[in-house]
Amino acid sequence: MLSYAGRVAQPKAQPIAVRVGGFGGVDGLVRHLREAQVTHVVDATHPFAARMSANAVAACAACGLPLLALTRPAWQAGPGDRWQTVPDLPAAVAALSGPPQRVMLALGRMHLSAFAAQPQHHYILRLVDLPEVRPPLPQHTVIVSRGPFDLEGDIALLRAQRVDVLVCKNAGGAGAEAKLHAARELELPIVMVARPPLAARQEVTRVAEVLLWLEAAHHAPTSRGAERGV
Ligand SMILES: NC(=O)c1ccc[n+]([C@@H]2O[C@H](COP(=O)([O-])OP(=O)(O)OC[C@H]3O[C@@H](n4cnc5c(N)ncnc54)[C@H](OP(=O)(O)O)[C@@H]3O)[C@@H](O)[C@H]2O)c1
Repeated sequence: MLSYAGRVAQPKAQPIAVRVGGFGGVDGLVRHLREAQVTHVVDATHPFAARMSANAVAACAACGLPLLALTRPAWQAGPGDRWQTVPDLPAAVAALSGPPQRVMLALGRMHLSAFAAQPQHHYILRLVDLPEVRPPLPQHTVIVSRGPFDLEGDIALLRAQRVDVLVCKNAGGAGAEAKLHAARELELPIVMVARPPLAARQEVTRVAEVLLWLEAAHHAPTSRGAERGV
């Protein structure tokens, strides 16, 4: 069972069953795990979904369920990159103090309002859906696209929009990496928001490792997975 928070209007079709919406905190998740007779939990949320990841750790501990996190290694700056790494979004907003620039926010729609504190800039917003409510940024351009993005496309976008600086979260992974290479190519600075700290949990970085974990559980004679199926 794949669980979506429900942030995207029309999520991609998936080859397994899907449910949508919050569980209602740790208590709600505990209830759901018990009612649905879940035997194994895989936390495959975005590295910035810190609340959900914390809830998964707490709920699995409460239910005595095994938890595995499927994560993407963080991006690392390489030669030619002009990154300013900041610890969180408020620090990213503060890093934009100064004269007006054309700023690309590749952050999703959830935290755009924080950038209203720096209204002098023209913001270029790349979003999965057209926002229902106009973002509270006096000057902005919305680009609707859900990726994956490629180097040529991102270079063309940064040029066409005359972007001076990018702000992005250190999501890791290949799907959103092109903008970093495009910025390097164009020698543009990036304000890179570091990942939030998460509770300790077992982590892997490849889907194949998750399947091996489930497979091992299925074959272990004493595991709950073997008793009830996964
Ligand atoms: N944060 C990002 O930058 C980002 C980027 C791309 C995709 N996403 C995805 O968007 C979703 C929401 O992200 P967020 O940063 O708002 O999360 P969050 O702050 O960690 O979670 C907020 C609340 O949203 C609900 N929720 C989150 N993920 C869920 C899931 N997979 N299934 C059911 N409920 C979920 C939970 O509600 P209840 O407490 O009611 O259970 C959770 O307490 C996540 O699934 C994440 O993977 C996030």
